[in-house]
Amino acid sequence: MNYKLATYSEYETIEFAQNLESEKFPNMVICLEGDLGSGKTVFAKGFAHALGIDEAITSPTFNIIKEYTSGELPLYHMDVYRLDGKVEDLGIEEYFTKGGVVIIEWADMISDYLPEERLDIKIKISEDEDKRVLVITPHGRQYEDLCEAVL
Ligand SMILES: Nc1ncnc2c1ncn2[C@@H]1O[C@H](COP(=O)(O)OP(=O)(O)OP(=O)(O)O)[C@@H](O)[C@H]1O
Ligand SMILES: [Mg+2]
Repeated sequence: MNYKLATYSEYETIEFAQNLESEKFPNMVICLEGDLGSGKTVFAKGFAHALGIDEAITSPTFNIIKEYTSGELPLYHMDVYRLDGKVEDLGIEEYFTKGGVVIIEWADMISDYLPEERLDIKIKISEDEDKRVLVITPHGRQYEDLCEAVL
């Protein structure tokens, strides 16, 4: 089952992230895919703010993983765009069971290393400047319930 949602501004994408955050649970994994500038970091920042994280959220492109611990749950924000296959060095699977929320930008680049149960969000840039189409696919019961609650 897929869900489709269009957002027409950065703010609407943030609002969607906030709605998902309101149904958060430990070890939640959110996998983002979509072209450069599609809104993956916008989504991650929106989620982080909703968690109550007061640190500045910066794009983790060069660090690969950034941890934020000042919110209601820890947030592990990853951007694997520049990982070049060094997934094994990262010990990524550790993060899936640390009790926090994992948000991965460019998750499709490490598809073999993702947990079976997760939420996939594919963001497509539309012809209209600020329009984005989000295709949301839950994998596993918890994520199906999450989508039922939020979408
Ligand atoms: N509906 C929308 N949702 C999200 N962002 C939008 C929307 N409309 C316009 N934008 C703009 O698109 C840009 C998205 O940038 P962002 O850094 O989030 O992209 P990204 O997918 O993380 O890119 P990268 O792959 O480089 O990390 C921002 O400048 C934001 O203001
Ligand atoms: Mg980004």
